[in-house]
Amino acid sequence: MIRFQPNEDSHEEIINAGETDKESWGGYCHGLTSMNPDLLGVLACPSCEYYPLDIVNAVLGDGEVNAGQIICQKCKVVFNIIQGVPILLSSACNRAANASAEAARSAEQHNQGQIDYFNNIGTSEFEITRPHDTGRLYQSLLDFKAEQSIRQVLTELYGSMVLCVCCGSGMDLEYLHNRAGRVVGMDISIGAVLGARERARRFGLKYDLVVGDAERLPFRSNGFDFGYVHDGLHHLSSPYKGLYELWRTSRRAIMLTEPIDASLTRVSVLLGISGTNEEAGNKVCRIKLSELRTFLADLKPASVSLSRYLMWYPHKPPGWFRFFNRKRAFGTYWYFFSLLNRIVGRWGNKFSATIRKSENIHSDK
Ligand SMILES: C[S@@+](CC[C@H](N)C(=O)[O-])C[C@H]1O[C@@H](n2cnc3c(N)ncnc32)[C@H](O)[C@@H]1O
Ligand SMILES: [Zn+2]
Repeated sequence: MIRFQPNEDSHEEIINAGETDKESWGGYCHGLTSMNPDLLGVLACPSCEYYPLDIVNAVLGDGEVNAGQIICQKCKVVFNIIQGVPILLSSACNRAANASAEAARSAEQHNQGQIDYFNNIGTSEFEITRPHDTGRLYQSLLDFKAEQSIRQVLTELYGSMVLCVCCGSGMDLEYLHNRAGRVVGMDISIGAVLGARERARRFGLKYDLVVGDAERLPFRSNGFDFGYVHDGLHHLSSPYKGLYELWRTSRRAIMLTEPIDASLTRVSVLLGISGTNEEAGNKVCRIKLSELRTFLADLKPASVSLSRYLMWYPHKPPGWFRFFNRKRAFGTYWYFFSLLNRIVGRWGNKFSATIRKSENIHSDK
């Protein structure tokens, strides 16, 4: 049962409490500070997987929840809603109960590194707006990547409900918002989530946001039509746990787009073009295709469509990328980029995969 217990506290007081918290994350965001209560329909407790969850002490505004708590009636864990964002992280002790103490500690440390780093940069102008105003080359590369990641389900996305994990400051959400019915974005960093919310305000987008851990998704099994992750799995302490969780919560298919452990990548690491560690501190855990195939076989998917391509770009476009704003320079770059991918794309450093729960198995490459 979904239960609301409106709180008599003033709206202003609660929002201020949120803002005080926010200072310690270094984030900033205006407007759109509410949670759509419909979201409860897909949420589940990240600690014990129980649902439905209840909202208590809700501060309502325009039928939405500005602040309050979400409570799991089974394990009695209470989760805060801060500025309309439910913070659905399972407690450290719950994780520890499901892992050896040492593994739990190291996963906690890993996650804390991610949270600290992305809380810091999540609301930066670049993260909130990229790939807008990043120049022709950078924007085209990211568009190409996004198109590759959903091309298998493009026509099915319309009207569907999509969960995007490790959503960062909302670049993927913006892309999905323009193609799907309803989009829910989740990230472990509230800084990143507030960045995504600011993006929604600026560009007139609509999506729901949740703070949670991709390795313990706070969502019901089969709650979404599609699951999506872009450059997120390789940030997790256990990418396959994240992959499994995405699979569990999606009823039709999941789409992944990630770096791959390719021979070309190893050469590029040796040449110093690519690194072994992310700026967030984590080791880049590039997915090995053989491991992925073994893992997927256990899930017994109806079909797996996987394609590889070769692409390089730094996280922030360097000044010389501006050279390719010129039509002719860009055209030449794109010609060779496409040609190179036709020849060696199959050994490329990035992959996109669509893994379906129903339909026949096929593979592009
Ligand atoms: C490289 S960023 C990618 C963001 C976004 N997908 C994009 O491409 O713009 C990786 C994101 O994963 C998030 N992340 C790291 N560990 C996570 C976890 N355990 N659960 C959920 N999100 C996580 C980080 O906070 C960060 O926002
Ligand atoms: Zn619970």
